[in-house]
Amino acid sequence: MLRTLFVMDPLDKIQVSGDSTYALMREHRRRGWPVWMCTPHELFARQGQTWGHITPVDVTDAAPHFHPQARVDLPLSDFDVVWMRKDPPFDMSYVFTTYLLDLVPRSTLVLNDPRSIRQANEKMFALQWPELCPTTLVTREIRRALDFIDKAPGDIVMKPWDGNGGRGVLVSRRGDPNLRSMLELLTSQEQIWVIVQHYIPEILQGDKRIILFDGEPVGWMLRVPQPGDHRGNMHVGATVQACDLTERDQEICAALAPRLADMGLLFVGIDVIGRYLTEINVTSPTGFREINHLMDTCLEARLVDRVLARVQARKETA
Ligand SMILES: Nc1ncnc2c1ncn2[C@@H]1O[C@H](COP(=O)(O)OP(=O)(O)O)[C@@H](O)[C@H]1O
Ligand SMILES: [Mg+2]
Repeated sequence: MLRTLFVMDPLDKIQVSGDSTYALMREHRRRGWPVWMCTPHELFARQGQTWGHITPVDVTDAAPHFHPQARVDLPLSDFDVVWMRKDPPFDMSYVFTTYLLDLVPRSTLVLNDPRSIRQANEKMFALQWPELCPTTLVTREIRRALDFIDKAPGDIVMKPWDGNGGRGVLVSRRGDPNLRSMLELLTSQEQIWVIVQHYIPEILQGDKRIILFDGEPVGWMLRVPQPGDHRGNMHVGATVQACDLTERDQEICAALAPRLADMGLLFVGIDVIGRYLTEINVTSPTGFREINHLMDTCLEARLVDRVLARVQARKETA
């Protein structure tokens, strides 16, 4: 049995039908294991020990899905596993939550490793493998961005470095009279960095989400933009489709695997468009429900098996 705490968004904010955290919690309950949750707001530290105002919760297939019980103050060291599953925005509160998780003793497995969550900004981390990424410029300077766009062979994409769910991602091209104005908006008048990237036409076939456990690809699907929108994000209406894992996809996964394993990034979702890696999602990847359906698998069960094996291995070496 595992005693697991989920640090997550409030239960009434969870869209059960597409939520991987719900699936993970449900899997624990299916095994007869207890489950607890708290939000980042409910974490606190006393004398260097992190505690939470924690809700024991039953999780069911049938509505209302979550059945919270009375909250109690508990140290996080009481748990075998603490899952950080708060959704972005990745802001200073998010970073601070990882500081609180740093204080949890090593006898508790914190996933993903809070140091690595902090280190691996989803879009910037991918650029540590530039040969796998589309040609990319990160800058605050509008002049430099315009220069890059001038020299691009085709369309370009501009996106905020801290975006998610397709928010603020724009497609444009050399000669677009809105270009300068869009860059002013995205950089807040050169106060924040923007990511400018060559546009990959294969996005029309979809943005591939590949789920990796310990760097090993375990599930994949395509998110196809809806007509009239260029973005392959489910949040903005992209539809999901089954697909294959190509040789190139496997090459990308193999290149990332040693680093991901090394950094304690057990559960990661990468985005691949055409032949290119565009994102490495480490904070709170999703896609279990859709991939389970498309690939006839149960990713949450496979993940819990891995976590259990890891906890047991740690106990043996301790
Ligand atoms: N280089 C690119 N070429 C074509 N489309 C892109 C590119 N980068 C991003 N997009 C489009 O924007 C969407 C979101 O981009 P992404 O970088 O994954 O940011 P987010 O964190 O918002 O999901 C993608 O699904 C895709 O439709
Ligand atoms: Mg994305």
